[in-house]
Amino acid sequence: MLHYSGDKKEEMKMKNKYRKSTTLRCDAGSIRLLSVVIGSLMGCILLLQLYSPISRKDTFIGRDIQLRTSHRLYFRELEEVEEEKIQIPPPRGKRSPRAAKRRPKRTTTLIDEFLDEDSPLRHKFFPDRKTSIDPTITGNDSMFYYPGRVWLDTEGNPIQAHGGGVLYDEISETFYWYGEYKDGPTYHAHKKGAARVDIIGVGCYSSKDLWTWKNEGIVLTAEETNETHDLHKSNVLERPKVIYNSKTGKYVMWMHVDDANYTKASVGIAISDYPTGPFDYLYSKRPHGFDSRDMTIFKDDDGTAYLVYSSVDNSELHIGPLTEDYLDVTNVARRILIGQHREAPALFKHQGTYYMITSGCTGWAPNEALTHAAESIMGPWETMENPCIGGNKMFRLATFFAQSTFVLPLPSYPSLFIFMADRWNPANLRDSRYIWLPLMVGGLVDEPLDYNFGFPLWSRVSIYWHRKWKLPKGWNLLK
Ligand code: GAL
Repeated sequence: MLHYSGDKKEEMKMKNKYRKSTTLRCDAGSIRLLSVVIGSLMGCILLLQLYSPISRKDTFIGRDIQLRTSHRLYFRELEEVEEEKIQIPPPRGKRSPRAAKRRPKRTTTLIDEFLDEDSPLRHKFFPDRKTSIDPTITGNDSMFYYPGRVWLDTEGNPIQAHGGGVLYDEISETFYWYGEYKDGPTYHAHKKGAARVDIIGVGCYSSKDLWTWKNEGIVLTAEETNETHDLHKSNVLERPKVIYNSKTGKYVMWMHVDDANYTKASVGIAISDYPTGPFDYLYSKRPHGFDSRDMTIFKDDDGTAYLVYSSVDNSELHIGPLTEDYLDVTNVARRILIGQHREAPALFKHQGTYYMITSGCTGWAPNEALTHAAESIMGPWETMENPCIGGNKMFRLATFFAQSTFVLPLPSYPSLFIFMADRWNPANLRDSRYIWLPLMVGGLVDEPLDYNFGFPLWSRVSIYWHRKWKLPKGWNLLK
């Protein structure tokens, strides 16, 4: 018993000891638990801190996927074929001399109607000012392109940037649209001469969204008094294009300069420290010693820039690299599209292949566009088909009653381009309109080329007609 009680005592002692020690151990456990909890919490905070950029990145990726999916759906919309049904009115007794001269006896075509200032269809080609695209009114029409309608700048004036091109300036993350400022009276210098407007200069507009354009003024101005100057107002300044030279930090403008009879057939070069000018006119020349009329410049991914121009009386095109400072041509050039009589070149690159859209040579009158493609920019260049889709046959054969001037890549979205063209109004050139339409590359060409044994080598370039369209929402968020 004693032993027992002793045992008991011992047991009690033990229990007490144990209890004590248990209590003690319990406290230590709590502390350990507490430290584990605190540690975990700290870990969590650390992890949260560590992972928050990733999760933020995840959100971006998620948003990117969402945008891309919605863009793909939107592209399908842009690829929808939109028909135009226009009834040609019965022949009228009196037609304008221009239209009558063009086709005196044959039945009227839609092109005749287009060129006839008195046509009852006039409003279809040149919609009334009341229908203007107006960025000062924010309504349902916001961000919609309406090809052919008057397009107003942020001050409510019609944009004057004909035969133009767009530069995306990475420094200011802004688009600049340069073109012929033609807000003057149209007249004929000679009976048989083309309709013209005296040189006023090169207009420049800036935009972040490619729809709202702020007038940055005339960045290269005509010469008023010195008649020997290339840019004397009585001469011709057409198709100005600007690229940025990252080596010199200069904005370089190339343009077609000519006399009123188009016999000078030269390129002019101007330079500025800023995209908004003023540009200093440097000089003109006949590139490589050849006549040069419609032209464009193209800056490749490696920074090399090229001049492309219609030459040998517009019967062929020439292409050659510019010097490193972009202020001159080098002595390297190739003749391309020989004997094809193409002009109004607009060059772009997609997945390593070079493409070019050109027009035929019919002055201010519209004609059929063609696509050309090349593996190397210096050629050989192959002629493919008419890129126009939708409208109706005449729309397609007349490039939607417009002439190519530029193909604008969207810096954030490689598969979508904007085809920029001019719907010239030879009766009133200042009222010429802009035709901006989505251009996509993909699918097979309609007709395989002869030389490749029936296997089409190139992708098809398609320009889709739309009476109204806009870029996919958030297109400029994808970078
Ligand atoms: C077109 C040319 C225009 C302008 C016009 C004058 O062929 O593409 O830029 O020069 O002729 O008639």
